[in-house]
Amino acid sequence: MGSVRLAGVGLGLRPPHYEHVLNRRPAVPWFEAVSENYMGPRGGSGGRPLEKLLAVRRDYPVALHGVSLNVGSVDPLDAEYLKRLKTLVALVEPAHVSDHLCWTGVDMRNLHDLLPLPYDEGAIEHVASRVRKVQDLLGRRILLENVSSYLSYGHSTMTEWEFVAEIARRADCGVLLDVNNVYVSSVNHGFDPRRYLEAIPRERVGYMHLAGYSIAEGFLIDTHDHPISDPVWSLFGDAARRFGGVPALIEWDGNIPAFERLEAEARRAREVADGALAVAA
Ligand SMILES: [Fe+2]
Repeated sequence: MGSVRLAGVGLGLRPPHYEHVLNRRPAVPWFEAVSENYMGPRGGSGGRPLEKLLAVRRDYPVALHGVSLNVGSVDPLDAEYLKRLKTLVALVEPAHVSDHLCWTGVDMRNLHDLLPLPYDEGAIEHVASRVRKVQDLLGRRILLENVSSYLSYGHSTMTEWEFVAEIARRADCGVLLDVNNVYVSSVNHGFDPRRYLEAIPRERVGYMHLAGYSIAEGFLIDTHDHPISDPVWSLFGDAARRFGGVPALIEWDGNIPAFERLEAEARRAREVADGALAVAA
């Protein structure tokens, strides 16, 4: 998947850290960048953020991670967005291109949220055919990330993990497995997160996400503004055993800490993964 192979634990590239990364060249194996931040306005170019990303790209592998594909919606795919994404992909030559298995709006209105889909045959066929179109247009495979959720649909006919695995198979796409989202949803909906991991085909997982959640009104919310929690570290150990050697990425989007704090989370992720693999050996 892609011309550059990722390895180890990467970090999400965030604007407060551009200068540190470009001046200090820290020993980070790769970065993930949010695609929309480098596309610029419609009809425009990515401007200075894109210049920064391309400068980072000279020294590091990069994965592009989007939030606006809206692949689960019944609105037509956004041709203008896909064109701009394709231009960005050509410039960055990322190891992976990903977005979320969700819908973000309908009737051309963006709800600015990653909303879950019903888990049924109709949604599988709908999403898989749209993913195939996106992949044809981009000329490469994409990864779809499992989102966290706080509601479920009465007409779902299968579990979330069956839904994710079947879409990946039918669309012939990869999975960006967000371990924090699996944990958050497992608490909110009361399922066993380890069953989820076991159902995801190993060969489809491009990389994993790790992030922190918040607790509000009895729900876990994937706010990405906290350190990674202990139960998520524990689940990540199981994921590292199951998907041995698959890269991981630390996501931290709110209350962004000093770069060294992110490096410490990455170090811990390596330790947890190494420990899990040593036990498995
Ligand atoms: Fe994520």
